[in-house]
Amino acid sequence: MSRRTIQGLRGLVTGASSGIGRELARQLAAAGANLVVTARRRVALDSLVDENRSLSGRMIAIEGDITDARHRERLLAAAHDDLGGLDLLVNNAGVGAIGPFTEAAPERLRRVMEVNFFAPVELIRESLPLLRAGRTPLIVNVSSVLGHRAVPRKSEYCASKFALHGFSDALRAELGADGIDVLLVSPSTTRTEFFDNVLENANGSTASLSAAASAASVAKQTVRAIRRGRHEIILTPGGKLLVWLDRLCPTLADWLVARYSP
Ligand SMILES: NC(=O)c1ccc[n+]([C@@H]2O[C@H](COP(=O)([O-])OP(=O)(O)OC[C@H]3O[C@@H](n4cnc5c(N)ncnc54)[C@H](OP(=O)(O)O)[C@@H]3O)[C@@H](O)[C@H]2O)c1
Repeated sequence: MSRRTIQGLRGLVTGASSGIGRELARQLAAAGANLVVTARRRVALDSLVDENRSLSGRMIAIEGDITDARHRERLLAAAHDDLGGLDLLVNNAGVGAIGPFTEAAPERLRRVMEVNFFAPVELIRESLPLLRAGRTPLIVNVSSVLGHRAVPRKSEYCASKFALHGFSDALRAELGADGIDVLLVSPSTTRTEFFDNVLENANGSTASLSAAASAASVAKQTVRAIRRGRHEIILTPGGKLLVWLDRLCPTLADWLVARYSP
C-alpha cells in the first residue's frame, strides 16, 4: 500500500482508556482522524475526550467489554451513524497473565484468548462491510514481540499474540484483493498500566520498566507506519534482536529465555 493520509480518516480504537491505545487515539486525533474510542472504564474515556477537545479530530467514547458482541455492534453502529463509515480499525485492547501454565486454571487461558484473540477477530469480521466501503481501509492489530518469540510463565499471553500474528498474516493476503490492508504492531515492554492489570500474577514477578518504551513512542511509530502503509513493525532494537536470534539460532534463544526471563 502506498502512503495514507490520516486527516479525515474515520477510526475505531479499542483499549483507549490507558497506555498505548490512549496515546494512539490522541495522536490520531491530533493528525485529524475522527474516532470512536472504547474500553470498559467510562471515567478514563471521558477524560480522554475532555483532554483532546481542542484537537482537529473528534472522539466519541463508548464504554463496554470488547468480548461482548452487543457492545461491538454498538461500536460499529456509532462508526456508521456518527462518523459516516469506517476506514481504520485499531485492535489494541489486551490483557496479560503471569505464572506457570501447570498451576493455572483453564479459565485464565480462556479469558486471555477471548480478549486478545477472539474479540479482535470477531470485530474484524463484523467491520468488514464498513471497511470495504472505506477510504484506504486498514486494520491495525497490536500484538507483541512475544507474538514472535514466546517466553516462559506467559504461555497463554504468548499463545494469544502468536494467534493474532498468524491471523494477521493470513488476513493481509486474503483482504488485499478488497483493498483492505493489515498492519501488525509488535511492541516490546512498554510503560503502561498493563502489568497492574494482568489477570493473574502467580509468582508476583514485576517487570523492570526503567528501560521500557513509552506509550507515546509506540503510538508515534504506529502512526508513522499507518501513514507509510507498512505491514509489520517491531518497535525496539531489543525486540528485533530477539526475533532475529529466534529465527537464526532458536536453540540459543530457547536457552536465553529459559535462563533470563523474569
Ligand atoms: N505494556 C507492554 O509492555 C506491552 C508490550 C507489548 C504489547 N502490548 C500490548 O499493547 C496493548 C495495549 O496494552 P497497554 O500496554 O497499553 O496496557 P493497558 O494500559 O493495560 O491498556 C489495555 C487497554 O485494554 C483495555 N481492555 C482490557 N480488557 C478489555 C476488555 N475486556 N474490554 C475492553 N477493553 C479492555 C483496557 O481498558 P479498560 O480496563 O478500561 O477496559 C485498556 O484501555 C495490548 O494488546 C498489549 O497486549 C503491551
